[in-house]
Amino acid sequence: MGLYGDNVLPRVIDVACGLKTVHPLRQRVCDRLEGSVVEIGFGSGLNTPFYPAAVTRVAAVEPADLAWKLAGKRLEATSVPVERAGLDGQALPFPDDSFDCALSTWTMCTIPDIGAALAELRRVLRPGGRLSFVEHGLAPDEKVRRWQHRLEPVQKRLFGGCHLTRPIVELLTAAGFTITDVDVFYEDGAPKFLAADSLGVAVSP
Ligand SMILES: C[S@@+](CC[C@H](N)C(=O)[O-])C[C@H]1O[C@@H](n2cnc3c(N)ncnc32)[C@H](O)[C@@H]1O
Repeated sequence: MGLYGDNVLPRVIDVACGLKTVHPLRQRVCDRLEGSVVEIGFGSGLNTPFYPAAVTRVAAVEPADLAWKLAGKRLEATSVPVERAGLDGQALPFPDDSFDCALSTWTMCTIPDIGAALAELRRVLRPGGRLSFVEHGLAPDEKVRRWQHRLEPVQKRLFGGCHLTRPIVELLTAAGFTITDVDVFYEDGAPKFLAADSLGVAVSP
């Protein structure tokens, strides 16, 4: 990714995504996990403190070496076995039907071919397996959407390809997931163009 993407951006993400204000959202998303879990866009392991006891193992998928290094202390602190098992959500190195659950937090914005990544998640989740997610994306309000379209080129440049306008629920549905529960809202204390979140569960058929 270059000097900025390799040596700076993972630190920026660690701080920006590490804000305490989003802890309740991480808690809500992680509470729904159990059994074997694949987490795409693992980052610096900011979800690890929220894994419930029902999780038996986590296969972490994360391309940035520095993010994995920054996860070190959190990996030591969790009692859940976590292995860095893949580098790219678009091509998961796992057999079909190998996980009970999947986790994605603020990652679907960044993966270049999100359709491919969602197809991969469906493939590796067992039938009835659940994808638990919280993602920012296209806002419900037209006025905010206009700003998102204006600012997206800058956002992509500064934040490693992060899109502002991905319609998260539509993408999940198009990939064949059934959404069993979703809450769409603006995160408190963040600019609306960045903070139009969808939090929920999508089931693989
Ligand atoms: C905004 S960060 C979110 C990190 C973490 N999920 C969190 O909640 O703190 C997006 C993450 O997606 C990762 N990422 C980028 N491209 C990816 C890909 N193709 N497959 C998997 N993860 C990817 C980035 O390296 C980064 O760690």
